[in-house]
Amino acid sequence: MLTIREIQESDAEAFIALLVQVSGETQFLLLEPDELNRDPGSVRQLIRNYRSTDHSTIFVAEDEGRLLGYVSTLGEPYRRVRHRVTVPAIAVRQEEWGKGIGTALLNGLVTWARSHGVLRIEVSVITKNERAVNLFRNRGFDIEGVKLHAVRLGNRLVDEYLLVKFMDDD
Ligand SMILES: CC(C)(COP(=O)(O)OP(=O)(O)OC[C@H]1O[C@@H](n2cnc3c(N)ncnc32)[C@H](O)[C@@H]1OP(=O)(O)O)[C@@H](O)C(=O)NCCC(=O)NCCS
Repeated sequence: MLTIREIQESDAEAFIALLVQVSGETQFLLLEPDELNRDPGSVRQLIRNYRSTDHSTIFVAEDEGRLLGYVSTLGEPYRRVRHRVTVPAIAVRQEEWGKGIGTALLNGLVTWARSHGVLRIEVSVITKNERAVNLFRNRGFDIEGVKLHAVRLGNRLVDEYLLVKFMDDD
């Protein structure tokens, strides 16, 4: 059965394996495989840091003890901006695409955001990443703008949409 839950320190090695797989399967994530932090000790520390704040989190999708995907969110503690968070990444193992896992992760994140006083969630998605654009639009995100030449893919500079969801919309 698919479970969406917050990441724990004991997930560190499985999380690294997940990141290694998904970063090799798509160009649409920020880091390339050789840029990943693969040191279990420092990934455990990173998870500890996430868990000790209430403005940032990582959710994982787990099935029968295997991590299938994750979504991260990053906020800041300052009073003037702590109502907003960004989503640096959401990814699912490619063999599991199209089964609703991305949507389940996003639902988990939206529920978390609502209970943490978040009013605005934003995410940048490469414009030609139709699957991800659809995922976010289906969950109430609207295009707020376009960031021209925001990402380098090989020798091309490509644009990103800035997609935003306001929590008082639903
Ligand atoms: C984007 C991603 C997380 C979606 O995960 P997923 O588990 O496949 O998502 P879901 O099964 O919940 O499908 C989400 C939506 O994608 C859209 N979708 C599915 N297949 C599609 C396709 N072939 N083409 C375009 N859109 C498609 C649908 O709108 C679907 O929603 P619906 O079923 O309600 O219509 C996954 O494809 C992925 O890991 N991609 C690589 C990483 C990435 O691009 N991340 C986003 C940038 S941070």
